[in-house]
Amino acid sequence: MGDERGCIVVEDDFPGYSPKYFNIPRHYESDVEYVLLPRGLVIDRTERMAKDIFYEMDFSKPLLAMCVLKGGYIFFNDLLHQLRQLSAQSNNSCQMGIDFIRLKSYQNDQSSGEVKVIGGDDLKKVEGKNLLIVEDIIDTGRTMEKLLEMLKPHKPNSIKVASMLIKRTERSSGYRPDHIGFEVPDKFVIGYGLDYNEYFRDMGHICVISESGKKKYSA
Ligand code: IMP
Repeated sequence: MGDERGCIVVEDDFPGYSPKYFNIPRHYESDVEYVLLPRGLVIDRTERMAKDIFYEMDFSKPLLAMCVLKGGYIFFNDLLHQLRQLSAQSNNSCQMGIDFIRLKSYQNDQSSGEVKVIGGDDLKKVEGKNLLIVEDIIDTGRTMEKLLEMLKPHKPNSIKVASMLIKRTERSSGYRPDHIGFEVPDKFVIGYGLDYNEYFRDMGHICVISESGKKKYSA
């Protein structure tokens, strides 16, 4: 059930769901191998993640939620929507700012091994804040480790990382974020903001890309 791993674990032999039972945009129909995580499940999990994040929050300092673009933008929006609702309902409300950072490490379905910051505000803004970094997926973990290394000298009060997905892969550096939605098999996934060479961000469900899809959209 994944209790010891702190998230929902999708096992390697999970066959997924046939795309024919889901609303997949017509232009991507033949590019999806199977639906791994339907959007409804992702939303439900996000609701619980927001609750976990909110109840362990230090309300004495402002929160700065930092979205790692581009892949994290849908998860970021859904997570912050939930956090805003919790904050509005609670006596422990907390000032919440948002920020965006853009990193690049992927070409086709391979991590390039090199992580570049290619956009975002001045990192000095994080000083004294409780930073919540929101990411789409942790694969090798190198991107997040690099980002944390870059942020720490700017003296945030605290740093927490929430990632919708973590891949179970031999390439992992061992890094695990504070909050994880789902642990998934070592497959290339698309949809819900996740792309393959900038395609598939406009698909609601998290799916495994087909070999023909990879060929069609390779860079
Ligand atoms: P890492 O440095 O290997 O952990 O890679 C993290 C980044 O690679 C994520 O933020 C994604 O942008 C990208 N990435 C890794 N795996 C996938 C995937 O299966 N689908 C889409 N993007 C991925």
